[in-house]
Amino acid sequence: MKAINSSCILKAQQVVEEARKKVEHTPYRLGYHIMAPAHWINDPNGLIQWNGEYHVFYQHHPYSPKGGPIHWGHVKSKDLVRWEHLPIALAPGEEYDKSGCFSGSAVDNNGTLTLIYTGHISLNEETDEFREVQCIATSEDGIHFTKHPQNPVITEPPAGGSWHFRDPKVWKHSETWYMVLGNQMDGLGNVLLYESADLVNWEYSGILVKSDGKLGYMLECPDFIELNGKHVLLSSPQGIQPEGDLYQNLYQTGYLVGEFDYETKQFTHGEFEELDKGFDFYAVQSFEDEKGRRIVIGWMNMWESQMPEQEHGWAGALTIPRELQLHDDGKLLMKPVVELKSLRENNISVQTMIVSENVRLDEVKGDQLEIIAKFSLANTSAEKFGLKVRCSENGKEHTIVSYDVKEQKVIVDRSQSGRGEGGIRKGKIEMLHHDVITLQLFIDRSSLELFVNEGELVMTNRIYPDPASLGVELFTEGGSVKLIELEAWTL
Ligand code: FRU
Repeated sequence: MKAINSSCILKAQQVVEEARKKVEHTPYRLGYHIMAPAHWINDPNGLIQWNGEYHVFYQHHPYSPKGGPIHWGHVKSKDLVRWEHLPIALAPGEEYDKSGCFSGSAVDNNGTLTLIYTGHISLNEETDEFREVQCIATSEDGIHFTKHPQNPVITEPPAGGSWHFRDPKVWKHSETWYMVLGNQMDGLGNVLLYESADLVNWEYSGILVKSDGKLGYMLECPDFIELNGKHVLLSSPQGIQPEGDLYQNLYQTGYLVGEFDYETKQFTHGEFEELDKGFDFYAVQSFEDEKGRRIVIGWMNMWESQMPEQEHGWAGALTIPRELQLHDDGKLLMKPVVELKSLRENNISVQTMIVSENVRLDEVKGDQLEIIAKFSLANTSAEKFGLKVRCSENGKEHTIVSYDVKEQKVIVDRSQSGRGEGGIRKGKIEMLHHDVITLQLFIDRSSLELFVNEGELVMTNRIYPDPASLGVELFTEGGSVKLIELEAWTL
């Protein structure tokens, strides 16, 4: 086996280590989220629990806070909460991955940690002509990886497929390895299926999902899983047109639920649903842990959005880990993993009250907070109510999380959040009938993840307030609402 390009890794490692000291204490740097030590990060990759520990890899450009030839960064954790940085796992350098080690997944192959990733080869940067091939790399210690001598293990797309041919997600079913891959055919997105007995020799088994146009021109980062007796395809389609409150971001991330037959390789499924209705959620990936939970992590940014942290030498982060569950009505729920409770420090409780005007909660304050607020919808005269967080002293800066009673929509309003591009996102609550609405917020220095009613609706957002904007307020418009209880913790 050929030793991995360790000199490329060492050099990248040195650069990132130098940069780390400069970014460490900058104002938007997050507290409890996975970020690269410095510089650029995008998709989560290779999520796996291996030898009891959780490993997360991520798309990483170690030389600048903007994208570039992509490496695989690496962290691990015993509890999904506290992450330890490990050396860069993969660096581009071979002919077949010289312009980037693009997204992919990880499997445990009889004790060998195996990464399956896309080698990106740029042929002409001006015309954006490129090739994409699939590669593998293995590790016995979970830290140092060796690229396989037979790389690339898939050398070209099937007939008719374009060179947009990336993001292998691999799993095992009855002794056979399966892979889904994003591809494009005739200008439309497809998810392809492959099979292998040994992870090295792959056979094409056809198209698993085909865009009819509504699913856009490319399906990035597919992930095919079994959940609650159903099959679910997660993916990040590009090119879906906005429709009312839906598909408002540049690219989307969502799912199809259906039935898959391993004999016929047919996947029959329902309509595409967005997984997260916030501004900053992309390229989600899942894995099953030893407790049998299906856990997902996404990239907490969006391609081409403003990332003010770039001025401070870094860009991007991953979301908190979330447990994915399939509800009986076919909708996916995402809930923060329970381990996150171990971050909770000071507990503040606000007792039941009728909120009929803005109430500043003097005891609840901070830029790293978890807040759970329960409101009763019975006898509500308010048209809108909710919370303002990251409020400045003069009240001019804030991020609003509200519920519009008539429209039955939860709204995240970033238009007075500080820096960044502002904007409003709305998500309808329609799955369950409630007369209580629960807003659970995870605030980190430049992020706000909102979970409504036990994960029925999730909205993930980056915000860039002034570091001194720490206040929290309850508010209503047009009447009053009953706050059943509010609990908060500094994290
Ligand atoms: C998704 C994506 C993937 C690709 C990777 C490159 O955000 O575009 O399709 O493999 O990022 O970094």
